[in-house]
Amino acid sequence: MFKVTIDGIETEVEPGTTILQAARKIGGEIVPPTMCYYSSLEGSGGYCRTCIVKVSAGSAKDPRPMPKPVASCRTPVQDGMVVQNITSPELLEARAGVVEFLLINHPLDCPVCDQAGECDLQNLGFAHGKEESRYDFPRRVFEKKDIGNKIQLHMTRCILCYRCVKVADQLTPGRVHGVMNRGDVAEISTYIEQAVDNDMSGNMIDVCPVGALTDKTFRFKSRVWFVNPTDAHRNCTKCSGNVVLWFHGTEIYRVSARKNEWNEVKEFICNDCRFENKKIENWVVEGPRKIERKSVISQNHYEQYNQLKAQIEKQRARLANGETPDIGDISLRT
Ligand code: SF4
Ligand code: SF4
Ligand code: FES
Repeated sequence: MFKVTIDGIETEVEPGTTILQAARKIGGEIVPPTMCYYSSLEGSGGYCRTCIVKVSAGSAKDPRPMPKPVASCRTPVQDGMVVQNITSPELLEARAGVVEFLLINHPLDCPVCDQAGECDLQNLGFAHGKEESRYDFPRRVFEKKDIGNKIQLHMTRCILCYRCVKVADQLTPGRVHGVMNRGDVAEISTYIEQAVDNDMSGNMIDVCPVGALTDKTFRFKSRVWFVNPTDAHRNCTKCSGNVVLWFHGTEIYRVSARKNEWNEVKEFICNDCRFENKKIENWVVEGPRKIERKSVISQNHYEQYNQLKAQIEKQRARLANGETPDIGDISLRT
């Protein structure tokens, strides 16, 4: 086992583990953000640089620092390595620079963007972005492309993370889309505008960290914090059938795959489950989805309601005993 210290916290990991995976093992605030790495997609990572960290000691054998920040999703740990993420002000400044570059061409679409509320770029901008852009040049514009009747492509929001391309390569029989051109004019496109139409193509929507690929069947129906995520399953011959149903009242507005605390899907789902089964009788409902990460989606969640109810009962009991209510007790954040 290799010993590695990240932001002063020591952990032991198998040789071959990346710095990012070691940080995820520790968990909490020290875990670097990721915009292109996706644990269930082979070869992902190494494109966006948001996961950079400072290596202040390379290994026990050679404790020299690495000369520049490294992508934690692609760099394996060495025995005795010392890494800094949130404890290094210059690293945070470097990450802010990466975020600034990601945002130079990004439109101010959040108020009308379907991804708002579950957007990794929004979270990243909130944590590391600047209030104003220093970019004076005209922003990139693209010709509108129709990539089929299920997925909406907004190229101006794309950050070229390549995740959707990996989904197409690894989950679908024949990839019909990819990144065309390079540099400032690079864009996601389909060859001769063929529709992205196969059994697993909807997973591109789930892996896209921004609102560049969204679900046409859910588009503009509701803000994500007004719908209630609920675990459900069905017998499916094409995928596991384990999904999240997004309810608005008793109506299913959206079906998506289940994401873990890192906002990543482990079990991809097929298009039949995602797009063709929006009736409640098609599903066995398991119960409210526990959102394992801090998210606005947790607002209005049943679990919040139960916590609130418990707090109210507690405060009532305090009042009944002649004690003053303890406002400091009330914590509804998940
Ligand atoms: S992709 Fe994210 S950051 Fe961009 S407009 Fe949509 S919600 Fe906002
Ligand atoms: S469309 Fe989305 S998933 Fe595909 S490269 Fe762009 S940002 Fe990444
Ligand atoms: S997450 Fe590591 S480079 Fe993108």
